[in-house]
Amino acid sequence: MKRRLGFFGAGKMAEGIVQAIAAVGTMPLGRVVMAETFPARAAEMAKRYGVQTTPDAAAVVKAADAIFLAVKPQDVAALAAQVKPLLTEKKLVISIVAGKSLATLRKMFGVQVRLVRVMPNLALRAKEGMCAICPAKNATKADVKLVESILGAAGQTALLKEKDFDAVTALSGSGPAFFAYMEEAMAEGGVKLGLKPAVARQLAEQTMLGTAAYLRQSGANLGEFIAGVATKGGTTAAGMDVMRASDFKKVVAATLAAAAKRSAELGK
Ligand SMILES: NC(=O)c1ccc[n+]([C@@H]2O[C@H](COP(=O)([O-])OP(=O)(O)OC[C@H]3O[C@@H](n4cnc5c(N)ncnc54)[C@H](OP(=O)(O)O)[C@@H]3O)[C@@H](O)[C@H]2O)c1
Repeated sequence: MKRRLGFFGAGKMAEGIVQAIAAVGTMPLGRVVMAETFPARAAEMAKRYGVQTTPDAAAVVKAADAIFLAVKPQDVAALAAQVKPLLTEKKLVISIVAGKSLATLRKMFGVQVRLVRVMPNLALRAKEGMCAICPAKNATKADVKLVESILGAAGQTALLKEKDFDAVTALSGSGPAFFAYMEEAMAEGGVKLGLKPAVARQLAEQTMLGTAAYLRQSGANLGEFIAGVATKGGTTAAGMDVMRASDFKKVVAATLAAAAKRSAELGK
């Protein structure tokens, strides 16, 4: 019998990964088995995707050799205590839990189990996620390939050192909220200039999406791109003058520093 892919937790992030598996056909969704304690959520996932669900995390360990750990950080300890006796070197646990280091996970899940740590972001729900990946020493090349192939279908992946994970958590993990806040600020600015809220949001959002798409496609240098758009005496230059005279970059740097600090605190 072909082995199954498992999940501890069937929440928002787990759903994004399941959608990516469905989109590229990594495996039939009937071979995905998810442990979920909230019965209505389990039923919803089974109905929506045809995945198997169980309230029992131990059943997932028995059925699957590779398992995504996708519960909230505060639920990890109880789950680990339950499944630790079943986890051998034959099992791979792929943690997407924010702030839990490989060393902490190792203590919780046992010395034998193969571990890969991932920091994803919510954009994987739109197949434009950014996932940082860091394997533990005992994870194999095939483990990393498996994780890259699954998460690569939901956006981009980057193989990084664990010491970078607090910064990654701040920039790409928490980043969707920060960019949404920027979009909100742009839309509110548009409303102040007389636009209807829905129109202002459309303009802000499409401009954010289109700018990122163009920058990626062209590989343009950011400074040169800005200088090119902001021609002397023009409208963009007038706006950029205000941005540059403000503390905008300082505020952004302080925002990321606060998020990274919190990530480090939560990881202790
Ligand atoms: N959301 C983000 O933007 C984001 C970004 C990066 C990383 N992450 C990480 O991704 C992880 C998952 O986040 P999420 O937003 O997907 O959380 P979520 O929607 O709350 O999903 C977690 C699910 O796991 C279930 N669960 C808890 N304990 C369980 C157990 N022992 N056995 C089986 N199921 C269990 C929960 O059920 P109940 O509701 O019954 O508790 C819940 O449905 C978190 O660790 C988070 O740090 C999230």
